[in-house]
Amino acid sequence: MKGFLTLKNYKPEAIQNIINTAISFKNNDKVTVFSNKKMVTLFFENSTRTHISFQMAMLKLGITPVDVNISTSSVNKGESLYDTVKTLESIGFDGVVIRHSQNEYYKELENINIPIFNAGDGTSDHPTQTMLDLMTIYEEFGRFEGLKVCIVGDIRHSRVAHGNAEIMKRLGMEVYIAGPENFLDDTAPVMDIDEAIKTCDVINLLRVQFERHSDTQELNDKVYHEKYGMTETRAKNMKKGSIIIHPAPINRGIEIADSVVEGENSRIFAQMTNGVYIRMAVISMVLEGKL
Ligand code: CP
Repeated sequence: MKGFLTLKNYKPEAIQNIINTAISFKNNDKVTVFSNKKMVTLFFENSTRTHISFQMAMLKLGITPVDVNISTSSVNKGESLYDTVKTLESIGFDGVVIRHSQNEYYKELENINIPIFNAGDGTSDHPTQTMLDLMTIYEEFGRFEGLKVCIVGDIRHSRVAHGNAEIMKRLGMEVYIAGPENFLDDTAPVMDIDEAIKTCDVINLLRVQFERHSDTQELNDKVYHEKYGMTETRAKNMKKGSIIIHPAPINRGIEIADSVVEGENSRIFAQMTNGVYIRMAVISMVLEGKL
């Protein structure tokens, strides 16, 4: 199957190649135009950043983007994912970007002949988010080997945490997790949040998904913020030169203090800018047969 589905089989050199291509696009060193190509976005779950930055990446590459509105589509008449994507292929699109709640939904699409770009699958993976996180870290430190990262928050329900931890470890980073016990899993060793603040190069905050927890009545917003959030005090105590990343959307005042969101250590909006260039890189590399 063609496309960009998961980073699990990508070697560090291939990851670096994608980052270098994205940086070339960002610096205007690389101009690639696919003027006769048309691609389609198919989002079964809500999204602002991934959905719109894939469309922006297509526009910058000269590709015409078309969106399927799931709520008015024949998905609501029971049409399967496979038949929906086969329909888009038959109509003549050159690629499809999909976000779906099912882990590894793309395994159902093995007979699809156009490239598929994974915009997030269940709690499994979000490869372009991982790539834009890595690009942001690389721009800051110029390397991955030896950096310490702590992923903080709702690890158990997070495709970003699972995708990031796996590839960060393979790139030589030391990965830890922090958060309430019932939010954690065996993704990486647990570290105390205040220890992480003092010693880690990257604090990778996650959105708290209270809607997914029935067992958190006692853990309200204020308690979470004080126990595990990036408070103003914690931001001041961060290791010199360290940065905060967050995939967003952000719960201001819960996982991060309002004043810290755009503070000097935060790279949250830089990540969103990088997301466009990463998506330009993966789309162009797939269409050129380089991925
Ligand atoms: N980071 C991220 O995936 O955001 P969206 O859900 O808005 O796409």
